[in-house]
Amino acid sequence: MPIYEAACRYGGCRFHMPGHKAAPVMKKFFGRAASLDITELSFSDNLLNAKGAILEAEMLCAKLYGAERVKFGTCGSTVNILSLIHSLRPLGGKLIIQKNSHVSVYSALLLSDIEPVILECSIDEDGIPKHPAPGDVKGAVEQNPDCIGALITSPDYFGFCADLRGIKEALKGRLLLVDAAHGGHLPLIYEGIYLPADAYAVSAHKALLGLTGASFTAFNDEALFEPFMESFRMFHTSSPSYPVLASLDLSREGMQKNGQRLLKELAAACAELKGKLEKLGYACVKNDDPAKLAVKPPRGSGHHLYKKLEERGAFLELSTPSCALALLSVTDGKREAKKLFKVLKEVLPLLKDGCPPRSFAGFKTQRAMPYLEAAKAERERVPLSQAVGRVAAANAGLYPPFYPLVTCGEVLTPQICEALAECGEQAFGVDFHHIFVVK
Ligand SMILES: Cc1ncc(COP(=O)(O)O)c(C=O)c1O
Repeated sequence: MPIYEAACRYGGCRFHMPGHKAAPVMKKFFGRAASLDITELSFSDNLLNAKGAILEAEMLCAKLYGAERVKFGTCGSTVNILSLIHSLRPLGGKLIIQKNSHVSVYSALLLSDIEPVILECSIDEDGIPKHPAPGDVKGAVEQNPDCIGALITSPDYFGFCADLRGIKEALKGRLLLVDAAHGGHLPLIYEGIYLPADAYAVSAHKALLGLTGASFTAFNDEALFEPFMESFRMFHTSSPSYPVLASLDLSREGMQKNGQRLLKELAAACAELKGKLEKLGYACVKNDDPAKLAVKPPRGSGHHLYKKLEERGAFLELSTPSCALALLSVTDGKREAKKLFKVLKEVLPLLKDGCPPRSFAGFKTQRAMPYLEAAKAERERVPLSQAVGRVAAANAGLYPPFYPLVTCGEVLTPQICEALAECGEQAFGVDFHHIFVVK
């Protein structure tokens, strides 16, 4: 574990940042993390120009993932996605994306002056947006032969994987980038799952053992690495957190040694839990990822179930009208599955039928202006109640999962304005019930 070991070996006199200098008071409150919180010194390498311990750790990670190169980061997949998309600028002006892309994708397009070709998502019976099929991508390529390629999210928040092999074929030699923020563990379950991607961004803090912010970008096409680095240096902090970097190192080591076994145990525990829940009357969404358990209550909504669990001290990742989503991870096995079962059993008698909440997924939208033109147009801030029929100048949607219901250039419908108003604080792109529209 080159980064972790370099940080542990440090015993010099600290006359450099960070200013807390691992003083006794810091150690009292932050324990070992205070000592590991060093900076870029001769022995600890330099994240943005790695040649030592960081490069060594990245190469070990690349080997585990079967990638040509890996770049570590401490600012989440957000900065990796910004950098990936921004690095494509010299290649053209259009990129295919799916509508339910994370906001970082939309921000990156705006920063990079790249026009999205947005694939609308159909919605499954649980109200979850479906991935684009290879045929959808093929159609988009035929209509936009000048596009650079596509950025696809896989898996999504709910643990569904896209057909990356089929999509890569449909792109006919163009680039395939993947937002694999939730999928760092999947190559240990599905061998070669990200091989069709030219590059993919992973949040190690979502499904691996990384501390919050720990993330990496893996490159199957090494030619993308240097252009990526140019952009990465623009967006990434110049003060990377060493505890976060060291956690990437530990995560890689842990996954390499025990990942397959732990994930098998997790999959078995999750399958057993699903069986037991179904006997009780719950239903579980059938997805591809054992780390995402979406539970559908027999009565009432997913939001109602989420609240009831919260009242008992069990906090899940998110809820939708149809389900409550629990994140499991490589650290979880039978014991945590039992805990989750126990609390779901306890709340079962408390679940009540209620007026079914509206689903906010899959609203039909109509584009009035190109995305970039609307995002850069003169704008005004109007109350949602007066925004119907106006053209959105900002992306707006729900958080989590932080993907938009409406994007810049689309017409705001009564349904969308009502949904954004109803979601209140859970909505992004909306501020005190006001939204930016094109003037
Ligand atoms: C699909 C997807 N992509 C990217 C991100 C951004 O990742 P991070 O929080 O690591 O910046 C998220 C965050 O939730 C996400 O859900």
